Amino acid sequence: MRKEFSNRLETALSSIRAQTDFVADLALVTGTGLDGLIAEIEVESKIPFGEIAGFPVSTAPSHKGEFVFGTLKGRKIIAQSGRFHLYEGWVGEDIVLPVYTMRALGAEKYIVTNAAGSLNADYNVRDVMLIEDHINFQGVHALAGPNDDQLGLRFPDMSRAYDPDLCKAAMEATSSLGLNIRNGIYAAIHGPEFETSAERRFLRMAGGDAVGMSTVQEVTAANHAGMKVLGFSAISNSATGGPDQQPDTLEEVLENTAISANIIVKIIMQMLDDGAL
Ligand code: HPA
Repeated sequence: MRKEFSNRLETALSSIRAQTDFVADLALVTGTGLDGLIAEIEVESKIPFGEIAGFPVSTAPSHKGEFVFGTLKGRKIIAQSGRFHLYEGWVGEDIVLPVYTMRALGAEKYIVTNAAGSLNADYNVRDVMLIEDHINFQGVHALAGPNDDQLGLRFPDMSRAYDPDLCKAAMEATSSLGLNIRNGIYAAIHGPEFETSAERRFLRMAGGDAVGMSTVQEVTAANHAGMKVLGFSAISNSATGGPDQQPDTLEEVLENTAISANIIVKIIMQMLDDGAL
C-alpha cells in the first residue's frame, strides 16, 4: 500500500467519528443481490460513502454504497452495503479501505458474501458454498507496496484465511437447520467479463469450486488486519465451461442469488443464536 494509505484511513475515520461513536463486534460486506442480511439489522445510523472523506463510491448495479451501523441479535455490526470491484476500475487500496475502516471501528470478525458461478459440476445453481479457501487470480495484491506495521504484518499468514472455527460453526448451524450447503474454494478473477469456457475449465483444474470477481482483496486485508473471516458464496450460475455451458446474464445471476441469499441469512442468524459470532 502506498504510504498515503494510512492518512487516507485516518481521514475516513475522522469523517465517521464526527457522526457516530459506534463500536463494532462484527463487520459484514454483502455482494450483488445479498443485501437481505442488512435488512435484519436494527439500524442505529447509516453513513453514505459519499460523506466519508476519501471513500470510493460504487457504480456496480444493485450496490448502494453506505455503512449501516446497528445490532443483529444483540451483536454490534457494521455492514458495508455495496463493495468496490477491480472491474469498476478501482485499485486494491480502494477495495480494502472499508476493511481497515471497519477493523478500526472495533470489528474482530469479518463476514463476506458474494455471488459466484459454479466451476464444480456437482454444484447446483441456487446452492450456497461456505468458502473454505480462495485462489487469487486477479493479478492484483492490495498489500503490495510499503507495509504499515500499525495495520498488520509485512507477510501476513494466509494458511487459515477463512477461520476454521467459524467454518465449523457454520456447518453446525447449517445441519441444525436441516439445510445442506457445499464447502469449497473460491477462485477470483478480475472481470468485468465472465470467463471464457477454457478459463473456467482451467480454474476448475486449478482447484476452484466457484468463481467470482470480488472477495479476495478484502479477505487478504481482513487477515492482515487480524480479523477472523467467514465467507459464503451464493451459486448464481453454472460456470463449468463444459459442452452444456449456457450464456451468462446478470439477470440470471441476480435471480438465483436472491434464493441462495435467504439460506445464507438463516445460517448467519443461527450462528448468532449459537453464540458463534
Ligand atoms: N463468473 C464470475 N463472477 C461471477 C459469476 C461467474 O460465473 N457469477 C457471479 N459472479
